[in-house]
Amino acid sequence: MEYGLRKVSSHCSISEMDDYDLSKLLEKPRINIERKRSFDERSLSELSIGLVRGLDNYEPAYWPGGRSGLNSPASSARNSFEPHPMVADAWEALRRSLVFYRGQPVGTIAAYDHASEEVLNYDQVFVRDFVPSALAFLMNGEPDIVKNFLLRTLQLQGWEKKIDRFKLGEGAMPASFKVLHDPVRKTDTLVADFGESAIGRVAPVDSGFWWIILLRAYTKSTGDLTLAETPECQKGMRLILTLCLSEGFDTFPTLLCADGCSMIDRRMGVYGYPIEIQALFFMALRCALALMKHDAEGKEFVERIVKRLHALSYHMRSYFWLDFQQLNDIYRYKTEEYSHTAVNKFNVMPDSIPEWVFEFMPTRGGFFVGNVSPARMDFRWFALGNCIAILSSLATPEQAAAVMDLIEERWEELVGEMPLKICYPAIESHEWRIVTGCDPKNTRWSYHNGGSWPVLLWLLTAACIKTGRPQIARRAIDLAESRLLKDGWPEYYDGKIGRYVGKQARKYQTWSIAGYLVAKMLLEDPSHLGMIALEEDKQMKPVIKRSSSWTC
Ligand code: GLC
Repeated sequence: MEYGLRKVSSHCSISEMDDYDLSKLLEKPRINIERKRSFDERSLSELSIGLVRGLDNYEPAYWPGGRSGLNSPASSARNSFEPHPMVADAWEALRRSLVFYRGQPVGTIAAYDHASEEVLNYDQVFVRDFVPSALAFLMNGEPDIVKNFLLRTLQLQGWEKKIDRFKLGEGAMPASFKVLHDPVRKTDTLVADFGESAIGRVAPVDSGFWWIILLRAYTKSTGDLTLAETPECQKGMRLILTLCLSEGFDTFPTLLCADGCSMIDRRMGVYGYPIEIQALFFMALRCALALMKHDAEGKEFVERIVKRLHALSYHMRSYFWLDFQQLNDIYRYKTEEYSHTAVNKFNVMPDSIPEWVFEFMPTRGGFFVGNVSPARMDFRWFALGNCIAILSSLATPEQAAAVMDLIEERWEELVGEMPLKICYPAIESHEWRIVTGCDPKNTRWSYHNGGSWPVLLWLLTAACIKTGRPQIARRAIDLAESRLLKDGWPEYYDGKIGRYVGKQARKYQTWSIAGYLVAKMLLEDPSHLGMIALEEDKQMKPVIKRSSSWTC
């Protein structure tokens, strides 16, 4: 077969694909104000009990008039908003990336790069890559493709997933899928990759989280509650959650992961408790809480979610947070404390603090560090995790403001000439050899190792709007507009300030295109933020109570 992916295994025959009738679910959503209101009211009334109060009552606080607000940044943004010529090009390119299954659009291809001789798996629909495409379509009033995507991936979740002789968890969502067209038999077949074909056999832990987040975005944007309430979607959510809420030997509420389990899908020293996964985990839990029915099966999950959210937010806000004060405290840590009252709970050695952090840390600002586990703090700054922490309100309002302060204070390092650094700083020399296993694709300031990824622009813009700093987003978008189209929408840029098109960057990378469109639409109409942001839950506010020995 031409599709050099893997052999189409027996479990994806067309007859089995039709195991349950999707046609009913694939009906057009009924979008009307009534339904939209009913979702908001449901969230409000259901969540206004006990601990879950106000979880989904999101209205962008900074644009009280919403779409029609006068004297608001929304309207002023709109007034100064000449449609940029790039927008039309971007839409055209986004539509060209559509993937059809049996005549219906079900996703977008990762990259439409004809010049590249090596396709690898960039001709597939990646779950994480489709998120900005989905948001662009939702914001443009085209929800059908999102619904199709959600239902098809749900169907894939039902497959038996195996790597060699090992069976993966039932709830795992694929990293990507592709549609095989047979022109002779005129049939379409779906083929998915759950990590069994992926380079390094990495697990897409983020896929399930993005799926839940997207289900909420769809529901919030269309007001169509019926999709999320189907037994299929409810079961899909329960299966995803079963994987990450199960009890084991964990001593922390964070989720233990192998390297390469998310956007950074290669060995990059992000194993353990990476911020990207923890922030997505938190956000997915909050979205599931709003979507889960409180029926016999759902109720138990709701209780487990609420408990986990409390523990997780406390842990993240207390131990992953780093600002000048906290850095100074860690610098003065004592080690080998054995007791309940230990200040240095994870036994981090002050000597392990890398030199660059002392320079990088401004007096104003802070961020969630990359990873925290026994005797290990990865002090690197990661864009996606920090933005999702803001959008999900995992960050307190003070922390969210501090993350934005840091971006302003360290603009040259984090934004430079192309938004946005995937992580900062790059690792080099001996450390690169040890941490990446000598990965030539991840050399310093390239790709996942300190490269600049245009897709992150939508996350930055959303975070800017949530924190009331649209001017930061505008600056970043201006930078992107000066190059993205001209350079052919690259996947990533290289160099300390992101000046060069990435060494092996694909062109016409769909999420670079969609990310730009989402950023533009968010800035133009900030009320779109409601579909991808969650308000702070006052009940979750941590009492940052250090142990009694804290002040010693
Ligand atoms: C690369 C990226 C990954 C992305 C994929 C498809 O593997 O690291 O995050 O999903 O390309 O664009």
